[in-house]
Amino acid sequence: MARSTDSSDEDREKSKKISALQGLSPFVKPYKMQVVLTLIALTATAALSLILPIAVRRVVDGFTAGDAHLLDEYFGAALAVAALLALGTGTRYFLVTRLGERIVADMRKAVFSRVIGLSPEFFEKTLTGEVLSRITTDTTIIQSVIGSSLSVALRNILMFIGGMILMLFTSAKLTGLVLLIVPGVLIPIIVLGRRLRVLSRENQDWIAASSGSASEALSAVGTVQAYTHEARTIAQFDDVTEKAFGSAAKRIFTRAIMTVIVIFLIFSGVVGVLWVGARDVQDDLMSTGALVQFVIYAILVAGAVGSLSEVWSELQRAAGATERLVELLETQDQVNDPVSPVKSLDRSSGNIRFDDVTFHYPSRPDVAALKDLTLDVKAGETVALVGPSGAGKSTILQLLLRFYDPDQGDVYLDGHALGDMERADFRRHIALVAQDPVIFAGSAMENIRFGRPDASEDDVIAAAKAAAAHDFLQALPEGYQSELGERGVMLSGGQKQRIAIARAILRDAPVLLLDEATSALDAESERAVQHAIDDLAKDRTTLIVAHRLATVKKADRIVVFEEGQIVASGTHESLVKEGGLYARLAKLQFTSEV
Ligand SMILES: Nc1ncnc2c1ncn2[C@@H]1O[C@H](COP(=O)(O)OP(=O)(O)O)[C@@H](O)[C@H]1O
Ligand SMILES: [Mg+2]
Repeated sequence: MARSTDSSDEDREKSKKISALQGLSPFVKPYKMQVVLTLIALTATAALSLILPIAVRRVVDGFTAGDAHLLDEYFGAALAVAALLALGTGTRYFLVTRLGERIVADMRKAVFSRVIGLSPEFFEKTLTGEVLSRITTDTTIIQSVIGSSLSVALRNILMFIGGMILMLFTSAKLTGLVLLIVPGVLIPIIVLGRRLRVLSRENQDWIAASSGSASEALSAVGTVQAYTHEARTIAQFDDVTEKAFGSAAKRIFTRAIMTVIVIFLIFSGVVGVLWVGARDVQDDLMSTGALVQFVIYAILVAGAVGSLSEVWSELQRAAGATERLVELLETQDQVNDPVSPVKSLDRSSGNIRFDDVTFHYPSRPDVAALKDLTLDVKAGETVALVGPSGAGKSTILQLLLRFYDPDQGDVYLDGHALGDMERADFRRHIALVAQDPVIFAGSAMENIRFGRPDASEDDVIAAAKAAAAHDFLQALPEGYQSELGERGVMLSGGQKQRIAIARAILRDAPVLLLDEATSALDAESERAVQHAIDDLAKDRTTLIVAHRLATVKKADRIVVFEEGQIVASGTHESLVKEGGLYARLAKLQFTSEV
């Protein structure tokens, strides 16, 4: 994903290759019938629009001949054509717009379900914001293209071709004249148009910079004010905003010049052609009706060209969006489920083995996060992982969930290598309390129930009690139904941790992973939670990354990590006696970050 991560709405990259739109075909295929109906409505309305000028000519010429009877018939026919045109256009609008919405809904679902299953490596390389703007902005671009631009383009291509042919039939001479004038009008438009595009791109960049600067300052408004940095921040914002205005002014000036030139050229062209045509009428080489018909066709064709030139850049935007979405859909993941997984583990005893594992994070290939590490955890055992920050403790848990594959060696659960099982299959048996607890926007009840979606309300409350979360949850304005706000803004760090622990308790899995799960708790709640954890750990395999001596001492075994290796292992007493890293950490009471 080496693409730019710029995600402002108007400014998504275009693609030169309109053919990239082919990537949409799998999404269009299920709606073939609708596409065919749309094409029929489209062709019919275009044909009707092209017939109308013929009627106009008959009317004009018939009027001069004074044939009242024919006149009525023609007006009647014109009315019928208008009715059909209205109906056809309405049908086309309905079909095409609905199709656009349908296809985009399908694409959003497809992309999201692809992305949500990708391993963390993908998210290290791709900004979440970029993924989001692909799901929202890029699909919206495609929607507007399928829902309107594409049918506008098709319609105008038909109008252009049909109009040209009918123009030729009406008057070959005048058509030739028009074809001579067109390049003279188009060249200045194209040249100025290019300049305009460069300027408007520049303008958008400045607008993006200006809103970026504002959003950064606003999101850190507390820091800005605490350091009395307002004046500087304002100056910075004023500066980019003025630059945005400056480039807008340039763009507006160019556009004004362009308008002058274009209007003059077009009108003088039209006047020129009309002049020649009028003389032909005067010399009886052409009827008045034919001249009127020709002028109408010319206007239709010119309109078609104008719309096509506008729609073209829309199509390019959509092609770019399609490329990005297809790229996401076709992303190859580093971690994949095996083709023929070993049969599902219905129950896990929770026997864990790391066999000579070496692992580098993909984004830091030069530093080994784990080096030749072998670790056996028996079913039901509680093992405390201790060691300085960055030693590789969290990494052990990441590999056990198979978020990454080791570079060397294997990780086993109940004697099966993780790579031989489906990830969803063994992850069922693992409950994780991550280092920074995640709270979803939703009620407290929903947040805990995330651990086991089919849990009853009583189960949720029991889990919350065990995690010492019941009291504060009940004290919330709406108890368990209180909305916790995005990322749990309403809760303190310790409260979030207790909800995360309740979630893991509710999951009731044979393997429990706790990553500094009690680091943000005050002494009292920690004691309460500690009881819950002791209970939980009793009859399951528990890996606990801990930073407090009290927790560590209770473990069956303590494993000491340093720089991705196990440097010692044993009980608290034996390790203190050894007098190595552990003894030093124990002396510091593990109170600082471990
Ligand atoms: N997602 C990541 N990408 C790259 N490097 C990482 C990532 N996560 C952790 N590391 C690095 O791997 C090493 C082990 O980290 P970790 O297992 O998180 O340590 P800790 O023992 O503090 O939990 C550290 O050097 C850390 O910087
Ligand atoms: Mg960690």
